[in-house]
Amino acid sequence: MPNTGDSKPPEWLFAAVIRNADVSALRDAGQHIRAGHLVAFPTETVYGLGADATNGEAVARIFAAKGRPHFNPLIVHVPDLGHAERLGIFSGAATRLAEAFWPGPLTIVVTRQADTPISELVSAGLPSLALRVPDHPLAQALLRAAGRPLAAPSANRSGHVSATSAAHVAEDLETRVAMILDGGATQHGLESTVVDATGSAIVLLRPGAVPIEALERVLGAPVVRASANVDPSAPRSPGQLESHYAPRASIRLNATHIQTGEALLAFGADAPSTAGPQFNLSRSGDLVEAAANLFAALRTLDASGAATIAVMPIPNGGLGDAINDRLKRAAAPRS
Ligand code: TXA
Ligand code: MG
Repeated sequence: MPNTGDSKPPEWLFAAVIRNADVSALRDAGQHIRAGHLVAFPTETVYGLGADATNGEAVARIFAAKGRPHFNPLIVHVPDLGHAERLGIFSGAATRLAEAFWPGPLTIVVTRQADTPISELVSAGLPSLALRVPDHPLAQALLRAAGRPLAAPSANRSGHVSATSAAHVAEDLETRVAMILDGGATQHGLESTVVDATGSAIVLLRPGAVPIEALERVLGAPVVRASANVDPSAPRSPGQLESHYAPRASIRLNATHIQTGEALLAFGADAPSTAGPQFNLSRSGDLVEAAANLFAALRTLDASGAATIAVMPIPNGGLGDAINDRLKRAAAPRS
């Protein structure tokens, strides 16, 4: 039975508690994060479902807990602009926005630093990174206690509305998080505004708690609306669907044997033997480990120069759905 992130719950799963965020709860929460567990915490917008952003398996557990059937990129929370600049490359405009609105409900998408320790799963394989400095004393206290950047989507099950109180989080995720830090009701109750600052113009990806006009006043320039039919409730930023990571090599799914010249993306113990380039997502058939390795594996095999990557079958269910969704997109014909 593969570990889907659902099937082998560690004991702490059942001890999940809403904790008053005192000194001892914050110390425990920091330890959970460093151990790769999930901690839900308040921000000024909505509650976040946090994990160590540098630990790929911890990040994979976020997707398993949310029951998301696909990977979309996550926001990384850091204590201040200095920390953010070590992870991503800030243009002049990105820096002006950060200085004006951080700490606060603005998420800035920038290009990843080449040596960034952030897991590739956080970016869903994209060369960019979404960064935010939260303006909530408990979010800041957790960042200090953990000493790690926190990847955190809204703390709700996939398809449900974002949680704005600890009780909402518990309704959705109680048995799936190590701890829920209680900070009362959130101030905005609306997610952060997300802008793409990787190019020369600032592009709005998701409307949110910071109004566009406020951004434009700081920039002295218009913010580009990514699309006319921006749906604030859409689970993905507009534009994400087209810009997902696509390997150069073609992808052959459900491969049980390997053809000459193909690279092999294997899963489990019975991989066909090959002298060519190969990457096993998880020898033990663990879907959490496989999800954590997925984007690095595709990139490595793509870089080998093979024209085709043969992909062994990966079981559906839990994280298997999200892995197979991404592989199917990678295999689809491109224009
Ligand atoms: O207020 C908020 O932003 C909350 C709190 C917890 O910080 N977080 C939140 O996360 O709403 P989530 O995962 O539900 O939404 C993140 C949004 C998605 O629309 C995602 O596509 C976009 O940010 N995003 C993340 N990384 C991106 C990237 N590299 N490029 C483009 N969009 C990105
Ligand atoms: Mg969300």
